[in-house]
Amino acid sequence: MTVIVVSNRVARAKSDEPVAGGLAAALIPMIKDSGAIWIGSSGQVGDAAQTKDSFAKIEALGTGALVTVDMPAKHYRGYYEGFANSALWPALHSRADLIQVMADDYTSYREINAFMARALLRFTGPEAVFWIQDYHFLTLGAEMRQLQIGRPIGFFLHTPWADRRTMNAVPHHADLVRAMLSYDLIGFQTDEDRQNFEDYLQFELGLMVVDGTVASASGMTHIATFPIGIDVDEFTARATRAATRPEVSRLRASLQGAKLVLGVDRLDYSKGLANRMRAFDRMLDVEPQLKRAVSLLQVAVPSRGNIRAYRELKSELAALVGEVNGRHGEVDWIPIRYLNKAFSQLTLAGFYRVAHVGLVTPLHDGMNLVAKEYVAAQNPFDPGVLVLSSFAGAAKQLDAALLVNPHDIDGMARQIAAALAMSLDERRERWHRMVGKLRASSVRNWFSEFLRTLANVRRMPSRLAPPRPATASVVVDLARAQRH
Ligand code: UDP
Ligand code: G6P
Repeated sequence: MTVIVVSNRVARAKSDEPVAGGLAAALIPMIKDSGAIWIGSSGQVGDAAQTKDSFAKIEALGTGALVTVDMPAKHYRGYYEGFANSALWPALHSRADLIQVMADDYTSYREINAFMARALLRFTGPEAVFWIQDYHFLTLGAEMRQLQIGRPIGFFLHTPWADRRTMNAVPHHADLVRAMLSYDLIGFQTDEDRQNFEDYLQFELGLMVVDGTVASASGMTHIATFPIGIDVDEFTARATRAATRPEVSRLRASLQGAKLVLGVDRLDYSKGLANRMRAFDRMLDVEPQLKRAVSLLQVAVPSRGNIRAYRELKSELAALVGEVNGRHGEVDWIPIRYLNKAFSQLTLAGFYRVAHVGLVTPLHDGMNLVAKEYVAAQNPFDPGVLVLSSFAGAAKQLDAALLVNPHDIDGMARQIAAALAMSLDERRERWHRMVGKLRASSVRNWFSEFLRTLANVRRMPSRLAPPRPATASVVVDLARAQRH
């Protein structure tokens, strides 16, 4: 079988470069080891007319290959900044109030999905198995079926799936979900996300899921939960290796015996960064003896900077950090070290190991790999403490962390202080419980378990040549198909 993985964001395997997000971080080692082909956006846009021969580059990635495609210039922005990241992302993270799209954005989203389906045609050999990743490509499977691609197609959502009332706020939500039923297998990070999706199917589309399978006009779709993991040993090894890296040594030396609380996130409103800073601020108010004894290092990697909600968040956080530092800081100490830049995973692993507390407090997060990486990077004899939002998918497994409600500033302040004061015995006991769970649910398991399930899913013959429903959007599709 030839596994073809498709995502918008791809990455290379260079160990000294940062990775943009958990999807790419998880897939890099899997593609390298499995021999799969990974196809995604090159980050460049090209002439939309070059739909047939638009590959920018094919390169080796370990035993696998990376294929990057130039996306049609006319539609990429409406697809990526528009529908994917200004309608789907906010809704999936329960922030329907931040949805801001134009009518054309949905057209662009569908166009890019159709474009990618055409790009995949050349990979549809008799052994091909397709695995589509994340909310950028909810409708890719349906477009592939329209092109008579009959091979198994799985889909995995890296983000949460919000409750059905929130999902109703997404323009064209029913179209999108109906299109998703062209997939043979749909995977979610947690049972809660899967249940939200099943509720949507039942109450919005009148479709019942029985024994994990739903029958629709598009055929049978299996729905299951596959929590994504990390390679624990790899992160442990990196943490040891990174100890002598200049940035890690400088960080350790700069603490001068004080403790370090560490946050590492994309600069995204789902990550709860403002509440986190407020909680740190509150802790210093309530426990002034901690001043000078602790610092927060927050790595906040700029993300999706062309979108207004992200720009506004950046300004809000800069102002908040300035305010907290201005109020509590001393000539030779500041409470929050705030960095808008990214680090390689090797350097990050070194930072994780130096930090006494890993502070991961998203308002909503599909999984959150940083939480898992922090645990894996700890010294088993003297581990740090993970303070984790119960709204991160990772909290389902890492229940031995200090779990917090990221909306409760006082509660978070108390738990950060408790983490800083925790005894060695308790830290060890909690760490052992967490690392055991991480080992039992590695990224390797995630990858193979999804593909094994996809291979086992029986597909209805009708899947191979779906009848095209007679709707207005389909007429447009046909016209588009004829053009190319
Ligand atoms: N990351 C990185 N450099 C940075 C910050 C983050 O390589 O400076 C990586 C980090 O190691 C993790 C991923 O980016 O693997 C973030 O994944 P997570 O699931 O925590 O959040 P996401 O960004 O996907 O929402
Ligand atoms: C999250 C999403 C990924 C995305 C990543 C980085 O992890 O689930 O699909 O790739 O964020 O976001 P970006 O927009 O930079 O690709």
